[in-house]
Amino acid sequence: MSEVSVTKNAKGPERAGDQLVVLDNVNKHFGALHVLQDIDLTINRGEVVVVIGPSGSGKSTLCRTINRLETIDSGSITIDGKPLPQEGRELARLRADVGMVFQSFNLFAHKTVLENVMLGQTKVRGTDKAKAAEKARALLDRVGVGTQADKYPAQLSGGQQQRVAIARALAMDPKVMLFDEPTSALDPEMINEVLDTMQQLAQDGMTMVVVTHEMGFARSAANRVVFMADGRIIEEAEPNQFFTNPRSDRAKDFLSKILHH
Ligand SMILES: Nc1ncnc2c1ncn2[C@@H]1O[C@H](COP(=O)(O)OP(=O)(O)O)[C@@H](O)[C@H]1O
Ligand SMILES: [Mg+2]
Repeated sequence: MSEVSVTKNAKGPERAGDQLVVLDNVNKHFGALHVLQDIDLTINRGEVVVVIGPSGSGKSTLCRTINRLETIDSGSITIDGKPLPQEGRELARLRADVGMVFQSFNLFAHKTVLENVMLGQTKVRGTDKAKAAEKARALLDRVGVGTQADKYPAQLSGGQQQRVAIARALAMDPKVMLFDEPTSALDPEMINEVLDTMQQLAQDGMTMVVVTHEMGFARSAANRVVFMADGRIIEEAEPNQFFTNPRSDRAKDFLSKILHH
């Protein structure tokens, strides 16, 4: 470990220029739909990037290309300097390096909470069971659901399940975490417990890409806001600047719709 690896996210990547995820001129189509258009996006280590934009603008597709749940037509994506692998064991390792948390929690229903957090560790990382269980318990404690370890997902609230999903991704020691609308399926009273967990993660220095409509989170946790519309990145700015003084008409229009009601 280098001496700078203990990063604190003080609303600014402390290792500026240390590029972790780089999308270079990425294009993708779904049939006739040009869903990602000339996307250039660099995420530095320790940075928290919030992606916002209207429904259908390509935010989920963007996330899914970063861990290769979707292929791209042209351009390149590198993680930590390496191009995304095509298949096989390398791809499984990439998926472990890029933690993903979805709107639907996607936990294994027939496995306990503890087993859900152990599974990737034993199967992909080759960790032995005792170590995996120990780490799983520590992570479940960290996200505040340690007492739920032996229950099944259906016995937990949505907010608790989503925190388990976060713990499960963290168990792989990911280099970056992608969150695709992690609170959109939650009852209102559970949103903050998940956002607090994410905020903590950001403070601990995790590199994060977060698609969310939670503008409070964007304001307090993001280093940068990326605004997408129609498959393009329309503008990128530091949150305060973006929310107080958006440059593009598309962003102004979008913000007026989500902020004034
Ligand atoms: N697997 C797919 N096949 C065809 N079209 C898709 C697929 N996934 C997404 N799309 C379309 O791509 C566009 C962008 O979708 P998405 O990335 O989910 O946007 P967002 O997350 O911003 O709402 C939408 O028009 C959507 O209908
Ligand atoms: Mg989406």
